[in-house]
Amino acid sequence: MIHGPCYVKFMQIKKIQDGNFEGKKVLVRADFNVGIVEGKIQEKFKLEACKETVAYLASQAGTKIALTSHLGRPDGKENLEFSLAQLVDELEKILNKKIVFVSDCIGEKVASALATVKEDEVLLLENVRFHGDEETNGEKFSQQLSENFDVFVNEAFSVCHRNQASVTGITRYLPSYGGFWLQKELENLDKVVNNPELPATAIIGGAKIETKLPLLNLFETIYTNILVGGKIANEAFEEKIQFSSKVILPVDFAGDRLDIGEKTIQIFKEIIAGSKVIVWNGPLGKFEQPPFDKGTREILAAVISSGAYTLIGGGESVQVLEENKLMDKISFVSTGGGAMLEYLSGNAMPGLEALKIQN
Ligand code: 3PG
Repeated sequence: MIHGPCYVKFMQIKKIQDGNFEGKKVLVRADFNVGIVEGKIQEKFKLEACKETVAYLASQAGTKIALTSHLGRPDGKENLEFSLAQLVDELEKILNKKIVFVSDCIGEKVASALATVKEDEVLLLENVRFHGDEETNGEKFSQQLSENFDVFVNEAFSVCHRNQASVTGITRYLPSYGGFWLQKELENLDKVVNNPELPATAIIGGAKIETKLPLLNLFETIYTNILVGGKIANEAFEEKIQFSSKVILPVDFAGDRLDIGEKTIQIFKEIIAGSKVIVWNGPLGKFEQPPFDKGTREILAAVISSGAYTLIGGGESVQVLEENKLMDKISFVSTGGGAMLEYLSGNAMPGLEALKIQN
């Protein structure tokens, strides 16, 4: 049997506004998986995403809040290079709260921190992926994560494509709700997948054509144009993949196929200028190596001046937007890279399925 896309919608999930948090110990799953270069945090936007949820919970009488997240891929081992302690100062500024760091995410250390945490303080628990059973979604570990808390809030849309203990396993033990940012992601993604205003244009770049083919094929059925750049364009040529005429591959390149070329930039710009909805995931060239960031930057400028409803996600695109202070020029910037891709491709998102209201 062929299934259509599984787009979990805003109205299908349990929401933070439906929960009762007064006097409760609340565990908030955030996504603090940010790049840190020489101590400098790259995507502050991801830290900011939980702000409204934390403020809302803090405004409820007697609520105790702990934040949990992964950072990088430490393979189930404690490795200070991936310690969340590095985020304490920045989170204090963003959340305007004193952050108390706890050097584990389960057990006695969490229990005693919860017993002594003061009003206006928020706990930040150590990297959940220091425990191997996070990624294997271990039953015992899921239960251990939950046992110090009364309620769970998932504020990490960008991790909802992972079937991991702090995303899905824990929801079997605690009443669970979607946070405000997660809700915003669903509302905005819905606008680009459900009867988008036409002409609608998708811009798909980055690497690994096999991970993007389901999206390209699905969007061929609902979008007007699909502009393809980045490594996947090379891969499509090499693998001689056939698409319908809606899929527009580069007609020229810069460097040794490291960026889209001038003619392609012009073709893409014209299509973008006439679009009503634009969704973009993945850079169009070897963005981290100037001058091969040119295509991505020029197309970004065209997207911004298009007047269309625009939705962008993925680490590199967010980085350019942040660096150039352009975040507010895009209708919605998704925290999801991989998660956004999975969602748009219509694949099941375990983290969202776990929040669904049961009829
Ligand atoms: C992301 O940064 O896209 C999410 O935090 C997921 O991270 P992961 O790919 O390491 O699971």
